Amino acid sequence: MFPTKAIILVLLFFDNAVSLQVDITPAHGEISVGESRFFLCEVIGGAKEIDWFAPAGEKIEPGRPDISVIRNDETSSTLTIYNAKVDNAGTYRCVASSGDQDAEATVNLKIYQKITFTNVPSPQEFTEGDNAIIVCDVISSPPPTVLWKYKGAKIQFDKDVRFKTLSNNHLQIRGIRKTDEGVYTCEGRIKARGEVDFRSIKVVVNVLPTIRIRQAETNATADMGFSTLLACDPDGFPEPIVTWRRNNAPLESGNKYSFNEDGSEMTVLDVTKLDEGDYTCIAKNKAGESEQELSLKVFVQPKITYLESQTTTEMDEQVTLTCEATGDPTPTITWSFGTRVFTEGEQEQQKRIYQASWTRPEQHKGPDGEVLVRSDARVSSLTLKYPQYTDAGQYLCTARNAIGETVQPVSLEVRYAPKILGSVAVYTWEGNPANISCEVLAHPSDVSITWLRDGFQLPNANTSNIKIHNTPSASYLEVNPESQSDFGNYNCTTSNEIGTESREFIMIPADVPSAPSIGEVQPYSSTAQVLFEEPESTGGVPVLKYRAEWRAVGRGKWVQRVYEVKDGLSSVTVTGLKPETDYEVKMSAINGKGEGDSSPSMVFKTEHVRYSYTNGIFHFHTEDTGEPSPPILEGTLQPKGNSLKVKWIKQDDGGSPITHYLVRYKAREDSEWKPEIRLPSGSEYVMLIGLDWDTEYDVFVVAENQQGKSKPGTLTFRTSSEPTATTDSMEDGPGLNTGVIVGILILVCVLLLLIVDATCCFLNKCGILMCICGKPGQSTKGKDIETGKAAFVQDVSKEPIVEVRTEEEATANHDAEGHLEPNETTPLTEPDPQGDIAVPLVNHELEIDGEHPLASDTDATQDGSHAGGTAGSSGPSAPAQDEKILEDENAELKKVAPDAGFEPNAVTQTNIESKA
Ligand SMILES: *[C@@H]1O[C@H](CO)[C@@H](O)[C@H](O)[C@H]1NC(C)=O
Ligand SMILES: *[C@@H]1O[C@H](CO)[C@@H](O)[C@H](O)[C@H]1NC(C)=O
Ligand SMILES: *[C@@H]1O[C@H](CO)[C@@H](O)[C@H](O)[C@H]1NC(C)=O
Ligand SMILES: *[C@@H]1O[C@H](CO)[C@@H](O)[C@H](O)[C@H]1NC(C)=O
Repeated sequence: MFPTKAIILVLLFFDNAVSLQVDITPAHGEISVGESRFFLCEVIGGAKEIDWFAPAGEKIEPGRPDISVIRNDETSSTLTIYNAKVDNAGTYRCVASSGDQDAEATVNLKIYQKITFTNVPSPQEFTEGDNAIIVCDVISSPPPTVLWKYKGAKIQFDKDVRFKTLSNNHLQIRGIRKTDEGVYTCEGRIKARGEVDFRSIKVVVNVLPTIRIRQAETNATADMGFSTLLACDPDGFPEPIVTWRRNNAPLESGNKYSFNEDGSEMTVLDVTKLDEGDYTCIAKNKAGESEQELSLKVFVQPKITYLESQTTTEMDEQVTLTCEATGDPTPTITWSFGTRVFTEGEQEQQKRIYQASWTRPEQHKGPDGEVLVRSDARVSSLTLKYPQYTDAGQYLCTARNAIGETVQPVSLEVRYAPKILGSVAVYTWEGNPANISCEVLAHPSDVSITWLRDGFQLPNANTSNIKIHNTPSASYLEVNPESQSDFGNYNCTTSNEIGTESREFIMIPADVPSAPSIGEVQPYSSTAQVLFEEPESTGGVPVLKYRAEWRAVGRGKWVQRVYEVKDGLSSVTVTGLKPETDYEVKMSAINGKGEGDSSPSMVFKTEHVRYSYTNGIFHFHTEDTGEPSPPILEGTLQPKGNSLKVKWIKQDDGGSPITHYLVRYKAREDSEWKPEIRLPSGSEYVMLIGLDWDTEYDVFVVAENQQGKSKPGTLTFRTSSEPTATTDSMEDGPGLNTGVIVGILILVCVLLLLIVDATCCFLNKCGILMCICGKPGQSTKGKDIETGKAAFVQDVSKEPIVEVRTEEEATANHDAEGHLEPNETTPLTEPDPQGDIAVPLVNHELEIDGEHPLASDTDATQDGSHAGGTAGSSGPSAPAQDEKILEDENAELKKVAPDAGFEPNAVTQTNIESKA
């Protein structure tokens, strides 16, 4: 039926001549949600109305906001769908009607949902350790498939089980870590359309703060203006901020506290004891907060708060010094005095040992000397029982705790009655004034001192021979004993405000010393060394001199010599002996009072002369030859620095007098010695001048006698370094130049003279040349005379200048010539190997001995009032084997036998009898 009817309708259209035709353009529509689209409905054949119907069938009225219908003209109408929604989908109809006829067309509109991210926040923050869910809400039609990427790579869920995609497409990370931080990508895909879209999500993992502390407990010192630092070093993300609290109150920057930028360091300013306690630091960030407790311990330096000086007297039973101190920890207190330290709890009896006790130990004997230290928190007392004057002085109180110590002095004054020092016995002799010293120690030191004798105060009318010399701390009673009655007791009485003290001094007549004892005699051929012991008794006053007397046993006169006492004098040398002869020697000691007994005499025999002489040749015995001992040398560098004075001390002459000295020297690095210097026997030193600067020199001095040469006495020394060049050139430069000029001038003059003279000679047979040519012998003779001396001078131009000083030069001027010759005393019959001029000089010797200033430094000649010295010529001063000449108190000469040994008769013997 239906098709038939349709055909009928179509026929109707055509029958009515104008049939309606409707078309919609476009014929299809497919849009995504939100898009807009329009459709045009065109009608062919006059239509009165054109209407659009929605998919639900209702007619679309104009004025709807989402869908508009507009009649363009007679033949068309436009349907516009704005912002399509899913429910706008469906089939839309356009119906045209001409009154009697209707026609329609349809268009199917499809609407779909694109991939749409509805909720994808970024960044998304989590706290480390959380089960994090990364949100990504995505919709589409059809629904999308969602996949996750981390840092551009697909997340391997099977590899890390912490990762999981939830049913709502969110990504779950269980126990998120800081390392999971980064950019995640949430990607949606629709297979049907091949559509892809994605969003990036920044994931931030915050970390809860943690605090590292450097020191849980900090030590600080109070009241020193010091600051102390407390520190909490926070970790966490984001960077935490640190704040501080104490007793639950926040601490703010100000006078007391200061903070660094992130608050991690807090400085407590000007620490006091009040700042001690606990401090809390709190570190806070997005993830949360944490806190730590720190404690501050404040120490206080010890401080002495009470200490006072004390005064006591020796009469007091005890004195106490008190010292009080504060500090934290509580200080311990100790006391010291000099080197002695007293510590707490020393209650037992102490032997007080002070430095003073070394000088006056007797002051410390006795039952006293008890020191007691009592300490109680912060207070200590030092009690001295029976204080003595040696306890006076500065005591130190020391307060000490863990962080320091402080020391403060306090003085203890001990007042005491005078104490008398000084030796009780004073020795002197009649006519010799002596002092009795009454030295006083006292405090207060204001003392009066009086002297008493037999109860009468001195000085008085009966005592013209007494003087008193007073000083503030001593009184000297100078007594010049006139008679025996002036010896005896003298009483020194002294007092100050504390008390009075007296002491008896006794003036004792001095005696002469007892005899020294001769221990041993060491004989040589012409001398002997006498070793002795000091007398047992000095008689009360020191021994000043010793007298030795000697003679050939049992005959002749005693020869004597006096020796001044020098430090450690324990031997004397007797001289002028003959070889192989028995002698006896005795000694006595002399003090101010006089000379004591002589010791028993000691017998000894001098040695034989240790050489023989035959046929003009000396023969030395192989051992025990009689040459002198080597001289002992002493060098003194002269101010100029390159000059040296070499002094020698004559040693034993081996039994035969020294004839001369031979001096040799050289720079150490040189192989050659400088020419030997030969000096006469009396010489004492040689001056070496003009040596090289800063150079080491060796000097040898050999003493020679008729028996041979000694081993050399040696000396090594170094000259100074050269003074600055400027001074040198200033001195030498111009001098040399002037010298050269003068030299040239002289040369010219001499040449002129020679020419004139030569002319004269040839023409007139006169002038100097003529004289020389005519009498050649004369001048040669003159030269020979000088030979002896020339030896000294000849090398002066090449070698350093040598200055020689001999004793003889220093003595008798009128005899100087003869004395310069070394072998002057050699007997005439003896050959002179050196060819020196031999002069017998016996008389001359005597004169020298009589007044020779250098003859005897050990002699007593200077003691004018008493025993004139005996000028025993000690070796070097007395030339050769002559007699020893001795001077007695009356300056008369004594005789000594010559000791010329092998040929005594060759020398004139001089015997001068002593009066004694
Ligand atoms: C602080 O002082 C105490 C007590 O003297 C000591 O034991 C500790 O070691 C000190 N601490 C520091 C950090 O110096
Ligand atoms: C005694 O002492 C006084 C004072 O020190 C002094 O001047 C005097 O010379 C002395 N006298 C003697 C003999 O030492
Ligand atoms: C002085 O000497 C006379 C006679 O010896 C004696 O009587 C007198 O007491 C002495 N005077 C004094 C002060 O010593
Ligand atoms: C010294 O003299 C005084 C006064 O006469 C006397 O009291 C004292 O005992 C004497 N001192 C001595 C040690 O004899």
